[in-house]
Amino acid sequence: MKDLKEIFESRRSVNYFDPNKQIDNKVLKEIIELSTLAPSCFNLQPWEVLVIKSEEWKKKLYNEACKQDKVLEAPVVLAIIGNTRGFLRENPIWDEKIDKGATEEEIQGYINYSKTKLFPSEEKKVAFAARNSSLLAMSIMYAAKYYGLDTHPMIGFDEDKVKEVFSIDEDKIVTMLIALGYHDESKELKPRGKRLGYNDIVKEF
Ligand SMILES: Cc1cc2nc3c(=O)[nH]c(=O)nc-3n(C[C@H](O)[C@H](O)[C@H](O)COP(=O)(O)O)c2cc1C
Repeated sequence: MKDLKEIFESRRSVNYFDPNKQIDNKVLKEIIELSTLAPSCFNLQPWEVLVIKSEEWKKKLYNEACKQDKVLEAPVVLAIIGNTRGFLRENPIWDEKIDKGATEEEIQGYINYSKTKLFPSEEKKVAFAARNSSLLAMSIMYAAKYYGLDTHPMIGFDEDKVKEVFSIDEDKIVTMLIALGYHDESKELKPRGKRLGYNDIVKEF
């Protein structure tokens, strides 16, 4: 079993997937379920995942995703969706809080604070969706590695077109696509790009 450090060190954005190696449905389900342990604002989990497997739907996605070959070659492409209105009362997670003892008034207080202070503008609402669903996306990439699979995150796509093709609500964003499958080991990846280190990115206060 890989330890967490090994998972971090071995994850790469894999460009070449073996198109003949399919993903077991049970493994796919476990990857997604494990990833739902990611943290989210008020535990609201304002995210959804589209699992795109068929040649027909992958081709539609490929046409809107800069014709990136990995969309066709990976056995599965996930579209990570963020809900910009995921803090509103219809989210069933608020009911779970009520079941656990919160009052309706308290819940309305959180929602009101979200509407007026945390996410008042469209920009803040989109950031809410993107912040939360990106944590799910990263969790999926590490969970996949744990199960021996490889991934490639992508934002090279026409979001409006992808939303149209997959009938995604206008209140939702397509945070990123993740190609998922097994690296075709006959094709070597370029060495990993340089990372900025502690001294480059950290400001101490
Ligand atoms: C949000 C995001 C969007 C990305 N979009 C693309 C993309 O559309 N096409 C692509 O080839 N790589 C894309 N990448 C992959 C990056 O180029 C890659 O993660 C980076 O070069 C570091 O390489 P590594 O993941 O192998 O360590 C994206 C990565 C992230 C996190």
